[in-house]
Amino acid sequence: MGIQKVGVVGCGLMGSGIAQVCAQAGFTTVVREVSAEFVEKGLKAIEKNLARLVEKGTFAEAQKSEVRGRLTGTTNVADLKDCDVVVEAIVELLPAKRELFTALDALCPPSTIFASNTSSLTITEIATSTKRPDRFVGLHFFNPVPVMKLVEVVRTIATDEKVYEEMVAFGAKLGKTPVRAHDSTGFIVNRLLVPYLLDAIRALEEGVGSIEDIDNSMKLGCGHPMGPLTLLDFVGLDTTYYISNIMFEEFREKRFASPPLLKRMVLAGWNGRKSGRGFYDYSDPAKPKAMKF
Ligand code: CAA
Ligand code: NAD
Repeated sequence: MGIQKVGVVGCGLMGSGIAQVCAQAGFTTVVREVSAEFVEKGLKAIEKNLARLVEKGTFAEAQKSEVRGRLTGTTNVADLKDCDVVVEAIVELLPAKRELFTALDALCPPSTIFASNTSSLTITEIATSTKRPDRFVGLHFFNPVPVMKLVEVVRTIATDEKVYEEMVAFGAKLGKTPVRAHDSTGFIVNRLLVPYLLDAIRALEEGVGSIEDIDNSMKLGCGHPMGPLTLLDFVGLDTTYYISNIMFEEFREKRFASPPLLKRMVLAGWNGRKSGRGFYDYSDPAKPKAMKF
């Protein structure tokens, strides 16, 4: 029968994008959030993206309705019980992910494959909260999910070979280019990207350049689509802070350590674009203004 129905847990920045691409690829998709308000917010973000695709002529209106028809939101984790694959995209905290997967393990049949979109946690450690570490992989998507072409498919030493190949094929069915990675903290992309992003904050702290000049340097000098401080705001400073702490704990290397400014911004609730303020103020989202520290 293959994969028919996909569950997505979390409908924030990443979960909403993952649910969207699953529904676009033809899978019946159910996405779970913690409250009706969050379900509504996530589904609205998806609807806005789909409307943009219609405006651009990528999709006909009827196609949009079909995609939307394949997608349901829920607050009830039990609605994921008959999914063939469940992709988790909740907050980057190990206890929350373990608690979720323990509940899913009790609900879903033994055939269901579990995947985590974690940026930095060890897949093996999340998988041990279930009785099916052989049917557990990392599926690491990139923000914004509907646009970015990559998915890292992560295997642990316990992942079954057939399950792994099925998930590589699933990533391709979602329109992504799958790359194969072992279960090493940060996988391929974040091993390289996170020290660069944290160094941009350190450069700012040390007064090497202003927010705009640091961003423009990497955009204009290196051809990056976004400067590092803009990208940090886009990823989420809370998420980056969790990732940095997890990677530092694993490697004990300064390049992964959280700069004090990042910690203070997260403590102040400046989580980047999603909270309206980070390195930039997004009061007018079309014209972000650099913050003064
Ligand atoms: N959701 C869906 N589509 C979006 C979008 C969103 N949030 N934001 C932009 N788009 C689409 C637009 O509709 C547009 O589509 P078309 O080309 O078909 O018209 C396209 O993306 C380009 O958008 P814009 O012209 O508005 O803006 P842009 O040219 O500046 O591109 C961007 C926006 C694609 C986000 C680009 O700036 C970019 O690639 N930035 C870098 C993103 C990046 O590095 N992501 C990885 C982060 S790290 C990570 O994800 C891993 C982790 O674990 C933290
Ligand atoms: P986010 O804060 O935008 O969204 C997380 C969502 O999960 C929130 O809406 C929250 O209400 C929900 N949630 C928390 N516990 C839940 C539960 N038990 N059940 C259902 N929903 C729950 O965060 P995000 O940026 O979407 O990150 C989610 C995951 O994806 C993290 O593991 C992160 O490391 C990873 N990730 C993030 C990015 C990025 O650029 N932001 C990129 C790749 C991977």
